[in-house]
Amino acid sequence: MRRISEIGTIAFVHQKEQLGLGHAVLMAKELVGDEPFAVLLSDDVMVNPGGVPVTEQLIEQYAAHRGSVIAVQRVPREAVGRYGIVAPVREEGRLVEINDLVEKPAVGEAPSDLAVLGRYILSPRIFDKLEMTPRGAGGEIQLTDAIRSLTREQPVFGYRFAGIRHDAGTRLGWLQANVAMSLESDQADEVRAYLRGLDLRD
Ligand code: G1P
Repeated sequence: MRRISEIGTIAFVHQKEQLGLGHAVLMAKELVGDEPFAVLLSDDVMVNPGGVPVTEQLIEQYAAHRGSVIAVQRVPREAVGRYGIVAPVREEGRLVEINDLVEKPAVGEAPSDLAVLGRYILSPRIFDKLEMTPRGAGGEIQLTDAIRSLTREQPVFGYRFAGIRHDAGTRLGWLQANVAMSLESDQADEVRAYLRGLDLRD
């Protein structure tokens, strides 16, 4: 905790009403000011063992292309309803130029199988868009809807990041994230021994 407090200034803002992800991001408007910024959803645990961290990959793309960048990954068609889904206009390697997004579409209405995962580098213009975004899916102010509006006036890209995402919002995903990260830690040997010793017979 001490080390973390030494690497930067940490500030908190309180979202007094639970009006959705877009609303939560909007609460940081004054704190962020007029600069591009990163959004990290903590229930998406992203790891890229031995490689460039996922958020850093997105920052590199922002610097190279001067547009907002969203982490995306292909998901099975039947899972599109759990995610924001992007509409690609052009794909070049891992970079996907997008001109539309839909939050949690029905399977038949999804514009692709490229899902938004919880890392974004956003232009500060998003705050103006969020202020004008009405409640969307689930009655919440959706970040996806504000980004959709942003695509109308600024470039927005998806980036098929290198790495693995664990959905820590589910019990199994949370466990997988813990196992994966423990196996990369300085206690990896003990963790491996513990897992090997588990009696998993029914
Ligand atoms: C949020 C976003 C969604 C994104 C997802 C990734 O949804 O609204 O666009 O695909 O995170 O985990 P939530 O999981 O909060 O319902």
